[in-house]
Amino acid sequence: MKVLNFINGEWKESSSKQFAPVINPATGDAIGEVTVSIEADVDAAVKAAKAAQKKWALEPAPKRAEVLYKVGYLLKERKEQLARMLTMEMGKVIEEARGEVQEGIDMAFYMAGEGRRLFGDTTPSELKDKFAMSVRAPVGVVGIITPWNFPIAIATWKSFPAIVAGNAVVWKPALETPFMAQELAKIFEEAGLPKGVFNVVNGDGPTTGNALVEHPDVRVISFTGSNEVGRKIAEKCGRSLKKVSLEMGGKNAVIVMDDADLSLAVEGIVWSAFGTSGQRCTACSRIIAHENIKKELENRLLEAMRTLTIGNGLDENVKVGPVINEKALQKIDQYVQIGKEEGAKLLTGGYILQEGEYNKGYYYAPTLFTDVTPNMRIAREEIFGPVASIIPVKSLEEAIEVNNSVDYGLSSSIFTRDVNKAFTAMRDIDTGIVYVNAGTTGAEIHLPFGGTKGTGNGHRDSGVAALDVFTEWKSIYIDFSGKLQRAQIDIDE
Ligand code: UN1
Repeated sequence: MKVLNFINGEWKESSSKQFAPVINPATGDAIGEVTVSIEADVDAAVKAAKAAQKKWALEPAPKRAEVLYKVGYLLKERKEQLARMLTMEMGKVIEEARGEVQEGIDMAFYMAGEGRRLFGDTTPSELKDKFAMSVRAPVGVVGIITPWNFPIAIATWKSFPAIVAGNAVVWKPALETPFMAQELAKIFEEAGLPKGVFNVVNGDGPTTGNALVEHPDVRVISFTGSNEVGRKIAEKCGRSLKKVSLEMGGKNAVIVMDDADLSLAVEGIVWSAFGTSGQRCTACSRIIAHENIKKELENRLLEAMRTLTIGNGLDENVKVGPVINEKALQKIDQYVQIGKEEGAKLLTGGYILQEGEYNKGYYYAPTLFTDVTPNMRIAREEIFGPVASIIPVKSLEEAIEVNNSVDYGLSSSIFTRDVNKAFTAMRDIDTGIVYVNAGTTGAEIHLPFGGTKGTGNGHRDSGVAALDVFTEWKSIYIDFSGKLQRAQIDIDE
C-alpha cells in the first residue's frame, strides 16, 4: 500500500518525492510505503484548513456532530478490518487492536453528543438590565502530532473534539503507522466532512512536525509523544504564544499492599506491564510491593508470566506482540543492562528473542526485576517496553512517597482491600489517573486523560476537558438598559 497525504480532500504525494517504508514489526516485512512531507506540504494543508474552517465554524454544532455520528458508524462497520491493519503496522495483539478501534468509536459518539451540548455559562450581571454569558468559540486551525503506539485512538481523542467545536485539523501521524491515518481520512471523506476540515500530512518530526509547530496560522498544537520532543515543542509554542497541549508518557506504578487480593493484583500487573509489550504511556513499569507479600508476589508473577505467549499479534492466542522496531529493541535491552549494573536482581527475561520466527521481527522477552530501589534509572526513566521492576516498601506512606518520587505523573494503581488505605492513596497520589484494584491501563474516553509533572503541561485529552484545548472562552455582555452602565462603578451600595 502506498500512503499519500490528504490535503483539501485530495490524495497527494509530497513534492519531496521521498517515501519511507512501512514495516510489519512482527515479521520485518515491508508492507507499504508512505510519502515523506516537507514544509510546502504542511503549508498547503494549513492553507486549506484555514479556508475551510471559516465555513465549518458557521455550521450549527449539531450539524457538525452529524458527521461524527457517521464517522462512528463507519468505524464500527470496519472495526475488524481496521484492527487487522493496525496490528500489521504497529504490532499490538489483535484483541488490543480491536479495543483501540473501539476507543475511536466511543470517542466519535461521545463527541458527537457534544454537538448538542458544548455548554457555556449564563450568569447574572452585577448591573440591572444586563445579561452575561460565556460561550466556547473555535480556535481555528489545530495541529495534531501523534505517536505510533495508538495510531488511531489518540488521533480520535484530539481530532473529534476539535472538529465538533468548529476547528479544522492538520494531523501529522507517526511515520511508522500511516495506515490508520489514511483510513481515518477516508472515513471522514465518506462521512461527508467538507474538504479541508481534516488534513493528513505524513512525515518526520524534525521537518514535518516542526513545520506544523512553527506555522503562524496554526493556533493550537496537541501533541502526544516523548518528554524530550514535547519540551522542544512547548519552547517553540511559548515563543509564538501558541496554545499547546502535551501528553508525554509516564513511569506508572502499581502499589500492592499486604492485604491485597494477590491473584487480582497479578492479573492487573501482567496486563498493564506486558500488554502492548509495555508500549503504552500508561504501562505499569514499577511494582511497589509491601515487603510482607513481596516474595509471594514475585512467585505468582513468575508463574503468570510463564503463560504469556509471544508472537505475531494476528494470532488470537498470542498475548505479547513485538515492539515497534530495532531501535526500540536496543533501547529496551540497554535499560536491562543498566538495571543489572545498578544491582537490580533479574528474575526473568532480559533478552532479545532471536530463535526461529522471532528472528525476523522485533521481540523482547517479558522481563521482571526485583529488589529495585527508587533511585535506580530503571525505576525512574520511561523504558517503553515489556520490563517491570519490583520495589519493596514497608508501609502505605512509603509506597505513596516512592510512587510520587518520579518526574512523571500519568497513572497509578493500588491493590488493597482496606477502604481507608484506598482513599488515602486516591488523595495523596500525584498522578492524573488513579486506579483502585485495577492495573494502570484502561482509561475510558469520557474522563480526562493526562498527567502531572513531566507528563504534561496542565491540559487533558478526552472528556469535556478536551474541549478546553480546542476552544477559547468568549464572554459576552448584553446591556438592555438603554443607558451607559459602568461595571464596578454604577452599582447600588
Ligand atoms: C497511551 O498509551 O498513550 O488507558 C494511551 C489506556 C488506553 C490509552 C493509552 N486507553 O491505556
